[in-house]
Amino acid sequence: MKLWGRMLWTLLSSPRGRRGGTWSWAFSSWQPPSPLAGELSATALVSHWTKIFEKRGIPEAQESSEYIVAHVLGAKTFQSLKPVFWNKPLTPQQVHCIQELCSRRLQRMPVQYILGEWDFRGLNLKMTPPVFIPRPETEELVEWVLEEVAQRPPVAGTQGRPLILEVGCGSGAISLSLLNQLPESQVIAVDKEEAAIHLTRDNAQRLQLQDRIRIISLDVTSEGSWTHLLPWAPLDLVISNPPYVFHQDMEQLAPEIFSYEDPGALDGGEEGMDVITSILTLAPRLLKDSGSIFLEVDPRHPALVSNWLQSRPDLSLHLVTVRRDLCGRPRFLHVQKSRPQV
Ligand SMILES: C[S@@+](CC[C@H](N)C(=O)[O-])C[C@H]1O[C@@H](n2cnc3c(N)ncnc32)[C@H](O)[C@@H]1O
Repeated sequence: MKLWGRMLWTLLSSPRGRRGGTWSWAFSSWQPPSPLAGELSATALVSHWTKIFEKRGIPEAQESSEYIVAHVLGAKTFQSLKPVFWNKPLTPQQVHCIQELCSRRLQRMPVQYILGEWDFRGLNLKMTPPVFIPRPETEELVEWVLEEVAQRPPVAGTQGRPLILEVGCGSGAISLSLLNQLPESQVIAVDKEEAAIHLTRDNAQRLQLQDRIRIISLDVTSEGSWTHLLPWAPLDLVISNPPYVFHQDMEQLAPEIFSYEDPGALDGGEEGMDVITSILTLAPRLLKDSGSIFLEVDPRHPALVSNWLQSRPDLSLHLVTVRRDLCGRPRFLHVQKSRPQV
């Protein structure tokens, strides 16, 4: 289920996609042709809707129709459908349901919201708008953290069971993958949005991971927010995929993003640093000595964060590593709390 997510991360679209632009009028008067129920197989419906999507300029036309048809037939992907279903005529209800879901796609709703679920590192997560849809790049961030945790020198009684804080948990994708991979870890997951808090809670229960996660409603930019987290200190690590889009870039987000996802999950302020600097300010008060912060950022952020940290020696943090994503862009940061001088 990766292709769509990777496209989605290409956040910027053509100006035609902007709110108030020209794409929205196209659907108000248009009714999709209704294929005759019983005469259409899954394969024929995929090709029918792919052509409509292409004609209407819907990105990833074929993937979109394949996911929707497969979903209605109870499969995750079209390729995983049993061949017997490929050419079998569908029931009128199935055809109607596909039509219903495809009309949402025509209104640029992301496939993840249409299906109501999506996979992240092999975990099936419920997805509800406007909570941020996890992107494949974030799977790389989680992978990196798991590698680092595995390499840590043994600390009496804590090896392999770190206490982790996630800032901005959204659907719970990061926290729940870490809990799933680190069976003795515990996570404190915070988000300022109630919709995200509810979705993380739902997903934790769905995956039977609710016993090792504390989910807290908190705005980390608010004065003294760190005091609410003190009861769980000292922490081993802090992880976050914060809102980091530069405010002036918000205008250029793809219609799928700006019409359906919470802007507060994306807009990081003038230089995309508002939540990043709040995390870097609160983390040293909560982390153990040598504790780590892992962040997903914009490629412009490594330099900005490095300069900002130099201007704040009082935080005793240093940038250890900048990691590139699969496309070669510097997208992930490892910042560490310095050991006190002896
Ligand atoms: C880019 S999304 C990441 C969601 C999820 N961690 C993921 O990777 O799919 C950023 C999340 O941070 C939350 N957020 C934004 N500002 C925040 C703040 N000041 N305090 C706490 N959470 C915040 C948003 O509500 C959103 O859920």
